[in-house]
Amino acid sequence: MEKKLQIEEILKRIKFLKPISGATAKVIQALDNPESSAEDIKDAILLDPALTADVLRIVNSAYFALRQRVANVKHAVALLGRKTIKKIIFTARAGTLLKRNLEGYPTQENANTLWEHSLVTAVSAEIIAEKLQYKDKELAYIGGLLHDIGKIILDQYVKDVTQKVEAELAKGKELTQIEKELFGYDHAELGGIMAENWQLTLPIKEAIAYHHSPTEASKEVMIAFIAYMANNLANFICPLGNYHTQSTDPAVLQHIGLNDADMEEITLKIIAKKEEILTIA
Ligand SMILES: [Fe+2]
Ligand SMILES: [Fe+2]
Repeated sequence: MEKKLQIEEILKRIKFLKPISGATAKVIQALDNPESSAEDIKDAILLDPALTADVLRIVNSAYFALRQRVANVKHAVALLGRKTIKKIIFTARAGTLLKRNLEGYPTQENANTLWEHSLVTAVSAEIIAEKLQYKDKELAYIGGLLHDIGKIILDQYVKDVTQKVEAELAKGKELTQIEKELFGYDHAELGGIMAENWQLTLPIKEAIAYHHSPTEASKEVMIAFIAYMANNLANFICPLGNYHTQSTDPAVLQHIGLNDADMEEITLKIIAKKEEILTIA
C-alpha cells in the first residue's frame, strides 16, 4: 500500500545522505568567499583524499579537453578558476549520490542511468544558460546536475508500488502528478526540500524544485526555465525510457526568447558534448 510521506521522515532520510558535509562544505565555503585565495581553496580540497582524486579524474576527463595533463590540485585551481572548480566539486559529490540503481522507478536499466541523465542535463543547462546569457552558467550546470535528486529518496517508496506507477504512466499521466497523488510529494518538490536542508543556494534550490513546473517559480525564474528545458532535452537526447518525456511548451520558449533555430543550435551542441561528459560517469 502506498503511504503519504511525513515531513519528519523525509528530513531524517535527507540528513542521513549529507552530500555536502565536512571537508566538502569547507571547500564550497572557500569557493564562495571572495576573500579566500587559490591557496585556501587548494588546501581545503587536499583535506579530503577522495575528493582530491575525483577532482583530478574529472579535470583530466575528455569533457574538459585540456591540452596538458593536470597532475595536482594547485595546478587545477590555477588553470580552471573557482567557478569551474565548484562545478567539479559538485560533480564529484553528486556522483556518490546519483550513481545508483533506482529500484522503484520504471525503465531504469542500470546503476548509471540516473547519473548519466543527470550529467547530460547538467551540460544541457550550461549550454542553454550560455545562449540565454544567464548570469552564471556554472550554477545552471549544478542545478541541472541535481535536478532529479528527489528521486533517490522517493525511490524507496516507489518500489512498493512500481506497477501502479507504470499503469498510471501508461494512461498518460505525468510522473509528478502520480507521485503527488501517491505520496503527497513529487520528486521535484522533495528535491527542493533536500536542497534547502543542505543549505544550497536559492537558484540551485529553485532549479531543482521547479524543473517540471517552471512557471510556478517566483524568485529564480530563469534558472527554473533552464532546468526544465535541459531536462526535456536530456530526455530526448539520452532517453531514460518511454516515460517522463515532457515536450517543451512552445509558450515557454517564446517567453524566454528562443526560436526554432536557437533550439536546433542548442540541441546540436548538447549532442556534441554528450559523449565527453559521459566519460565522467
Ligand atoms: Fe524530474
Ligand atoms: Fe530528469
